[in-house]
This record gives sequence, C-alpha cells and structure tokens, in this order.
Amino acid sequence: MEKSDFLVVGAGLAGLAFALEAARHGSVTILAKTTAEESNTRYAQGGIAAVMDPSDRPESHVQDTLVAGAGLCRREVVELCVKEGPDRLNELMALGVPFSRDTAGHLDLGREGGHSTRRVLHVKDRTGAAVVETLLPVVRAHPRIRLFENHIAVDLIHAAWLARRKDRVPPVPNEVHGAYVLDRRTGRVKVFAARVVVLCTGGAGKVYLYTSNPDIASGDGIAMAWRAGVRIANMEFIQFHPTCLYHPQAKNFLITEAMRGEGGVLRRADGGTFMERYDPRRELAPRDVVARAIDAELKRTGEECVFLDMTHHPRAFLSSRFPTVYERCASLGIDIAAQPIPVVPAAHYCCGGVDVDLFGESSIRGLYAVGETSCTGLHGANRLASNSLLEAVVFARRAAVSGAERIREMDLRTDLPAWDPGGAVDADEQVLITQTWDEIRRCMWSYVGIVRTNRRLERARHRVDLLNDEIQEYYWDTRLTADLVELRNLATVAGLVVESALRRQESRGLHWTADFPRTDERFLHDTVLERRL
Ligand code: SIN
Repeated sequence: MEKSDFLVVGAGLAGLAFALEAARHGSVTILAKTTAEESNTRYAQGGIAAVMDPSDRPESHVQDTLVAGAGLCRREVVELCVKEGPDRLNELMALGVPFSRDTAGHLDLGREGGHSTRRVLHVKDRTGAAVVETLLPVVRAHPRIRLFENHIAVDLIHAAWLARRKDRVPPVPNEVHGAYVLDRRTGRVKVFAARVVVLCTGGAGKVYLYTSNPDIASGDGIAMAWRAGVRIANMEFIQFHPTCLYHPQAKNFLITEAMRGEGGVLRRADGGTFMERYDPRRELAPRDVVARAIDAELKRTGEECVFLDMTHHPRAFLSSRFPTVYERCASLGIDIAAQPIPVVPAAHYCCGGVDVDLFGESSIRGLYAVGETSCTGLHGANRLASNSLLEAVVFARRAAVSGAERIREMDLRTDLPAWDPGGAVDADEQVLITQTWDEIRRCMWSYVGIVRTNRRLERARHRVDLLNDEIQEYYWDTRLTADLVELRNLATVAGLVVESALRRQESRGLHWTADFPRTDERFLHDTVLERRL
C-alpha cells in the first residue's frame, strides 16, 4: 500500500500546479498513466487568457466568458477566475514559463475567438508544452512529491463502497480514502491510500472518432467519479474545435485558433469565403458558431474539408509565431506560407465533468476535481478560448488551499482492502477491446456530434447501453489491462454525454439539436446526473 496526504491523479497543468501548492502542507503522490510528459496540457497550443494589459479590463473578460457560455456560466466562478488569474500567471512566470514577449519586452498577447481584445498569454504556439517543461522538473525535484509513471487509476476507494461491502448503509457524509491503481508494467493493482484525492485526468476527446486530444484522453476521472456516486454536470457540452488538420497522416493535430486571431481566413475548396454568412464576427466568432458553420458548409458542398488561409503573412512571421503548426504542416508537404491549410472540426474539450464547488471539491468529501475533469461553472454551455488553462491554474490553487484543511480533518485509512481480482483470466482476444472502442467512437461521432437530433441520440443511447453491458461482463471476467480500464471509462463517459444531451431539449451553446433549434428558458440550468449507489 502506498500512502500520502494527497493523491493526484493526472500530471497535466492542473495536477502539477496542485501538487506544488499542496506539497507546502503535506506529502503528495502524483499518478501519470503513461509518462509524466504526456498530458492534454502538452497539446495546448493557444495559451492562457488573463487580464494582464493595462488597457484591458476584468469586466470585459468576464463579459466575453459569459457571452460564450450562453447563460450557463456561474458568474461567481467567472469573476474569481478573472480576478485570480493574473496572480497565478505571475507565479508561472516566476517559475520560469517563458511567455512570448515583443521586442520592447511586453507580453505578446494573442487574440482568439470570442475575446473582445488581445489577452492570451502564449509561448509561441506551444504554450502547454512549455508549461509542462517548466513545472515538471520542479515537481520531480520536490522532496515531498512522489511521481508514479505508468500507473493508471482504476477506481476510487470511498466510504460508501467500503460500507456496502460489509452490507451497511453508506455513512453520510461520504468520504474518499484513496484509489486502486494498475501498475502497467507489472499488471498488478495496488492500493494508494490518501486523505485527499484530486482528479486531474483531463478530458474525454477519445470518445469521438475525430479529436484534437491525445490517446490518453479517455475521461478516466469523470468515469471513476460517476461510479463512486459523485454528481456529474453538463456532459452534453462537448466543444468541437473548428480547425484540426485534415490529412491522412495527421492524427489529432490542432491548428490553433490563434491563427484566426492573426487574420486567418476560412475558405471553401473553390476559394470562396463563407463565415460572413454565419456571423458578423466571422472567423473570430466563438467556436460553436465557427464549427457549426464549417459543418454546414461541408454538408452543403459535399467537400471533405475547408481551408484556413494564412498566406497573407510573410513566411518569417508564420515560422516564428507558429513554429509547431508550420513544421508539422511542412512535414506533411503543406507550405502554410504558400497554400491554405486543410481543416475540419474535431472534438476538443469537455465543458462538463465532475460537479465541484468554489474550491474544486466534489459531492464526496475530500474528493476534488481540477481542470477539464471538473465542471466549475466557468465555461457554461461553451468554453471561451484559452480559459481552460486559466481555470486549471486558478482551481489548482483553490483546491490545494481547501485540501490543506481536509488533511487535518480526515484520517489516513491503512485498513483498505486489497484489490480482489476474482476469477479473472488473461484477455485472449484483444480484438474485443479494439472493436468496441472503435464502435463507441464512430457511434458518438455519427449520432452525438456537432448537430444532434432526438432520433440520433436515441439510437446512440441504445448502442452505447449495449456496449456498456458487454464491457461490464468482459471487465469482470478478464484480468485488468490499461486498455480495458480506458475502454470501460470511455463507454461510461459516452453514456453520460448521450444521457445529458437527451435531457436538454433546446439548443444552447455547444448543444445544437435540429429538433429543438431554439434556446428555451426552461432549460436555463445545469444538467446534473447522479448515480444512486
Ligand atoms: C487553440 O490553440 O486553438 C486551443 C486553445 C484552447 O482550446 O483554448
């Protein structure tokens, strides 16, 4: 059994920032399911939105966030993120994150869709990677932080589950005590006991066939929390990024929105523009608007992609401001200084997640969620560009402050039962996993995508329920592997997205259904799902 005050599941910005703050108060264990370098954060190109320029105003950032969120943001959360963001950004700079600056040494603030001004701090177009490269060595060297790579959390250990094992009614309030964790190298499931557990597992983009997310984004934290009876909110709001690279050899490659901020123009294959017909803000409309416009154009023309034209910029500007995109495209034979970039929308960000309070604590005491895994109320029905890393860094601090109190109140349970593998045998047919994984992702893409209908959602519910039943059966008969853990989580999250989408019988923000094309004030509330234990 491994023991610590804080158990952090996930090593992206949320996990690393939480760990550094929490380590001031107690011992910290971080789990990374592959290497610590691999997280959703690493792929964040755009940057972190914050009011750092004297000509910008906090009210303006608040207003832009509320407008994008289409009535569902929690104003209190928006205000605190905008207020606390600059301090957190200054701390990142003090740790050494090299945010881009102009020749006079001022921060080079980028612009993205939905923002009324330039306010996005960035490190060229590799912001997330630069943040991880800065924080990770500090974490690795910290005497109170232990990092376990290749360890994937399987399930939470919590009071209600412990009580049920002994046929007792779950105690109230419910508390978390740790997690079962699979060591991928040995195949053994270990107990990690902790006073506080923090889910920082990122999003669930892999639930869709096409996504900007890396393979690890299988919604593990949300699925574990759901199984533990935690409240989950707003899962219907899946953000589709309008511009992912369309190329047979390009898997999950984002074309940053900052390019549209620098005047990028969307064109059809015939060279004609189209955004002017959809929104007066054209390419800088919020993402839901741009993604739907592209989807509509593709359906109308039967083309496979549209194009983002950056050719009005000199090559030197493109290669220095957007080196990641420039080089990746060049490696595939696309010269972005000379030709428009083929792009399509793809699943990018999950605005819903574990329903948490102003300190990131969930409906189970001592269980926190930070970053994309959580639903704080900042994003409402649609996240404003570059507000995600802002939320991660603001809530990492808030959760650590609250968690420091919890570790004084909560016991470290050392009597937790060992993992019971039952009669599970080794999986002999990997195809059952790969095929099911593929079925879920195709089903979600076809029926629960940018434009939805009741009929498609009902069909998705039927399919996903069947797949969930099959996975359940297979899961208990088979010795655990990381693929099986992820598949089970992915199917759980797919079910939550479908169920939430069916409940919202209106169109709002990222949830657009042809059956209810208008916004309906009766649905001006979160969609909250809770599993009875
Ligand atoms: C991007 O660079 O377009 C992604 C940034 C974000 O998702 O906020």
